[in-house]
Amino acid sequence: MQTLFPNRAHDVGIPDGLSVNSNSSVYTGNTSIYTGSNSSEDITTPESRYSWRPHVTLTFAQSIDAKIAGQGGKQLALSGKESLVMTHWIRTMHDAILVGIGTALNDDPQLNTRHLPAMTTVPGYEHKYHLPRPTILDVNLRLKPTCKLLKNYKAGTGRRPWIFASKPKNQNDLDEWWARKEALKTAGAKVYVVAATDGYISLSDFLKTLKTLGIRSLMVEGGAKIIQSFLRETHPGLDGKAIPIVDNIIITVAPKIVGADGVGYDCDLTTQLGQLNHIKTELFGRDTVMTFKFKND
Ligand SMILES: NC(=O)c1ccc[n+]([C@@H]2O[C@H](COP(=O)([O-])OP(=O)(O)OC[C@H]3O[C@@H](n4cnc5c(N)ncnc54)[C@H](OP(=O)(O)O)[C@@H]3O)[C@@H](O)[C@H]2O)c1
Repeated sequence: MQTLFPNRAHDVGIPDGLSVNSNSSVYTGNTSIYTGSNSSEDITTPESRYSWRPHVTLTFAQSIDAKIAGQGGKQLALSGKESLVMTHWIRTMHDAILVGIGTALNDDPQLNTRHLPAMTTVPGYEHKYHLPRPTILDVNLRLKPTCKLLKNYKAGTGRRPWIFASKPKNQNDLDEWWARKEALKTAGAKVYVVAATDGYISLSDFLKTLKTLGIRSLMVEGGAKIIQSFLRETHPGLDGKAIPIVDNIIITVAPKIVGADGVGYDCDLTTQLGQLNHIKTELFGRDTVMTFKFKND
């Protein structure tokens, strides 16, 4: 019988021949918005054609007035159930998933696939979907050791989170930074130290490190500053031309108005439109989901 994720069965340790209560159209019905194809056979994790970095998918939900959170960053349930499930299917396709520390502290996300249907009644395999590796950009190691990502890891229901931080320039801050690093390591996190400028991790350094760690695809889920950084940063191609570091964008537009006090991503997407090829637009419940591919040539 076909699994719900044909190219992922081995990754997650599903034994050969295990019957899975699958209807591959459930899978493709949710992933074709991204792949543009209705075939379940050719679904695999996306891979970048640039050898130095993983494939990058930027995804977020916004209101019709382009806000991703409420006043003061209040977390909003913008996505309806159907588009939330679609997002969880797309998560299963990616090796890693990223949020900024602003989102990690504000929303305490789990970044897992808990909204997907049980795949089998075989004990131990009911929900054995591929989980993307949680990664967090957190220069100053502000992540709380009690966060859900670390709790899930300890409980065996989530993968070990990887934190990307940068050593403080001021020697006086170093002792406290080391103490926070040790506390996070004790709580289960793996901490990678990379370059940062003005409090922002170098995205090129981050992506290169992920690639050396075997990550082929990254799903970037926000928040506002992370979206801005990924849309703005480029990397020089072989001919020196500036190439976007994002390959695909998935935007979920919910039929809601948040108002001027809400948080936007404050990045003029219209300047990017010339560089974007539209893949597909589809309704998921009451939400409109649009997928685009950057023209990287
Ligand atoms: N609607 C959606 O789809 C969605 C999804 C996710 C989040 N959100 C919302 O977004 C809001 C959080 O957004 P936010 O802007 O405050 O935080 P964020 O984008 O999640 O995180 C930003 C922080 O990450 C760190 N960082 C390190 N390197 C960075 C880099 N290269 N570029 C950007 N940031 C970098 C910086 O903090 P340090 O210097 O301390 O490291 C920065 O302040 C919340 O309200 C949340 O609910 C919405």
